Amino acid sequence: MKKIVIINEKINSFNKTIYVQGDKSLSIRWALIASQALGKSKAYNLLASEDVLNTLKVLRKLGIKINKKKNYYEILGNGLNSFSFKNNTIINAQNSGTLARLILGVLAKSENSVILKGDKSLSKRDFSRVIKPLNYFGVKIKSSNNRLPLKTYGTNYLRPIFYKELKGSAQVKSCIMLAALNCPGVTKIECLPSRDHTERFFKYIKVPIKKIKKKKFDLIEVKGQKQYNSFNYRIPGDISSSAFFIVLTILSKNSKILIKNVNINKSRTGIVDILKKMNAKIYFKNKRSNQSEDIADIYAESSNSLKSINCPKSFNSRTIDEFLLVFLVCAKANGVSYFKNIGELRHKECDRLKFASKFLKMIGIKSKETKDSLKIYGNPNLDLKKKYEIKNFDKDHRVCMLSFVAALTLGGSWKINDVDSIKTSFPKFVKIIKKIGAKIK
Ligand code: S3P
Repeated sequence: MKKIVIINEKINSFNKTIYVQGDKSLSIRWALIASQALGKSKAYNLLASEDVLNTLKVLRKLGIKINKKKNYYEILGNGLNSFSFKNNTIINAQNSGTLARLILGVLAKSENSVILKGDKSLSKRDFSRVIKPLNYFGVKIKSSNNRLPLKTYGTNYLRPIFYKELKGSAQVKSCIMLAALNCPGVTKIECLPSRDHTERFFKYIKVPIKKIKKKKFDLIEVKGQKQYNSFNYRIPGDISSSAFFIVLTILSKNSKILIKNVNINKSRTGIVDILKKMNAKIYFKNKRSNQSEDIADIYAESSNSLKSINCPKSFNSRTIDEFLLVFLVCAKANGVSYFKNIGELRHKECDRLKFASKFLKMIGIKSKETKDSLKIYGNPNLDLKKKYEIKNFDKDHRVCMLSFVAALTLGGSWKINDVDSIKTSFPKFVKIIKKIGAKIK
């Protein structure tokens, strides 16, 4: 993959059917959960991106056998906490916050200590959010300033906890749930809603789990120390990857797209609901279920007369990885859009709230940023003519792909740096966008 890309032309009208690669959240979870199962688990359509391949590398380093076959991966699990590695083993989560936070839960009972490292971007991110609940379980973690690298010491004396998770973070929730697998008794989490893949996986493999939906939060209870068996799984397409093509289509003229086999789990589809409220034409077709998730083909077409949105807070966690794309659509919408309580965007692969303001300013759109909100003054006649460069974005894969969509729909002449960052989540992105007709140098 080239490091720098030049885009000088908008994309021509298109009418295409595409497949995006497998869901990243599900791919990482499948690997971690299968590593603790008893027997051989297989995954079809596992996302072969850097975050997921790193997950497999880390598991191998911890003594898990993993084989890549022609059209699936297999993991040979020896049961809960059956890792085999030396004291002070170093593992590197590279860019993946999900891997780093979830593996700490899986390691809660390990006899030997582990040093967890990450790349430059991950080493800037906050780990107090998982260190705190893990400490309550009895896990000791040494870090400087709650950042990576850190050293974790599992314990044979885990105690069940009751934890209030107030960030709406699926990574924190999942870290606790994975630690609970090895813990005697019942672990309870009162949490703000967030993506629920771990709950669904636990139900599917028959880990004793209860989930009660209350008005403002979910109460989750996991009964620990119940060994589960291996399981085969087919991973559906990633809605976060699909979102780039949905927005590309909405903002292009006379275009249509059908994206096949996408995970439309309700805890992930905030972008579709927001864009529909803004008058975008998006439909789910052929809805069905796989083993634990809901799937559909997503159809989208060019949408004129987009209107602004005052986004309800309840959409935030369901849209958490797609806000940059939503902001781009707001730039072309009629009226002022407003997003509140979105401070979590500052804790992603880069500070996405800061990036958004900088980006909007660059393309001539007025915006107002506070510590945790953003106002965007849309302009439906936005048509760019100048030169634009995207650089210094901490190699955030979503910033990079967003820039492709902006360049191909708004006009102007764009230079995009660090394009190899896309390999983190969607290595086939450039190939697919070229197939749709993008002219990229
Ligand atoms: C993820 C949870 C989200 C999301 C990330 C993937 C997951 O992070 O932004 O890309 O797979 O659990 P938070 O839990 O920090 O919101």
